[in-house]
Amino acid sequence: PQGVDFQAENATIRNGRIESNHAGFTGSGFVDYDNEVGSSVEWTVTALATTSVNVVFRYTNASSENRPMDITVNGIKTASVNFPPTNGWEDWRTLTIRVNLLAGTSKIRATATTSNGGPNVDKITVV
Ligand code: GCU
Repeated sequence: PQGVDFQAENATIRNGRIESNHAGFTGSGFVDYDNEVGSSVEWTVTALATTSVNVVFRYTNASSENRPMDITVNGIKTASVNFPPTNGWEDWRTLTIRVNLLAGTSKIRATATTSNGGPNVDKITVV
C-alpha cells in the first residue's frame, strides 16, 4: 500500500536480532524476535495532527501456531494481534490495524505475548 515505510531493522529492538537469511524482505533485513514473552520492536512515527492511520505489518510465520503480539502506542495497549502462520519464512504477508495517533511523535511497539516470541517482521507501513 501507499504510505510511509518504517523498517524493523531501524527500530528499537528488545530481545530480537536483525537477520537477512530469509529472502523477500525490504530494506536490509528483518527482525527475528527471540522466542520468548516480551521480545519487542518499537517504531517511532510522527504525525502532523491528531489522526487515525492504518499500520500495516509485513511479516512471516512459518510455525504452525499464531504468533500473537500486543500493540501499544505510547505505552497504551491498542490491539492484540494474532499473526497467523504463513507458507514458509519467505512468504511475506501483511496484516493491518487501525491506530489513533496524537500530533507529534508516537512510539508504536509490538511485543510478543507467548514463549514462541513474535513472527519475523520486515517493516510497518503507516498509511
Ligand atoms: C527459525 C527461522 C527464524 C525464525 C524462528 C522462529 O529459526 O529461521 O527466522 O525467527 O524459526 O521460530 O521464530
